Amino acid sequence: MRLRQLRVLGRRGQAGRKGIALKRFYNVLRTILADAVSRITPAARFRVRPLRRSDCGDLIKNYFSYYDELRTSPDFGIVFYRKKPSYHAELKWFESLYRSVSSGNTIASVAEADGKAVGLCQVTRLRPGSEVDHVAELGIAIIRGYRSIGAGSALIRDVLRRGKGFETVKLSVFSSNTAAKRLYRRMGFRKYGTFRRSIKRGGRYVDEDLMRFDRTG
Ligand SMILES: CC(C)(COP(=O)(O)OP(=O)(O)OC[C@H]1O[C@@H](n2cnc3c(N)ncnc32)[C@H](O)[C@@H]1OP(=O)(O)O)[C@@H](O)C(=O)NCCC(=O)NCCS
Repeated sequence: MRLRQLRVLGRRGQAGRKGIALKRFYNVLRTILADAVSRITPAARFRVRPLRRSDCGDLIKNYFSYYDELRTSPDFGIVFYRKKPSYHAELKWFESLYRSVSSGNTIASVAEADGKAVGLCQVTRLRPGSEVDHVAELGIAIIRGYRSIGAGSALIRDVLRRGKGFETVKLSVFSSNTAAKRLYRRMGFRKYGTFRRSIKRGGRYVDEDLMRFDRTG
């Protein structure tokens, strides 16, 4: 009886290992295929390039569109100000982003499609000149209609390639944002913690997964 149980468990163990190997194989295959497809089809649909000053208007428009999206998707995965910022405040945000890019403390890339900036990804050095300035933080968002075509992957790959000076890149992501978490894992980020109840949206708490990408160690 025990032996049979052990055999069953053994077989289950083997099946489990096979399952994990198959899953890994499937993930690798899917990444290769998605990459290949994104190289062929959306080449015409989007391209990734460094941020330009002329992206300002599009990026502000995009940001405001996330506020619209929040109304229909209460779990939308970016952190908002409780009061929608003014256009003027957004202009200031862009100026400060652009200054940070010019000083080398931010690497920012844009996905461009149909003649406009449809997505932004940036990594920004933490407190330049301090003992944490080997670390940078990543943020990314792509407007509705241009997701799941490979733009997010291409943007992250681009900022990580251009941001080689940052030893560690960290990010926080809504624990419920499974699509984004999967993407970050595929890009080499690993979870190192959870920040419970880090966000309070409409009286409801949301947890965030903390993830990091390390070039060293
Ligand atoms: C999270 C986000 C940045 C991801 O960007 P994206 O452009 O959709 O990402 P990708 O297209 O590269 O990858 C997403 C999926 O599309 C698939 N994909 C990639 N290239 C593809 C292609 N050419 N055709 C079809 N699917 C493709 C990927 O395999 C991936 O699948 P998965 O979810 O099963 O892992 C984007 O969805 C977004 O902006 N969401 C709203 C804001 C947000 O949540 N930001 C994150 C804050 S932490």
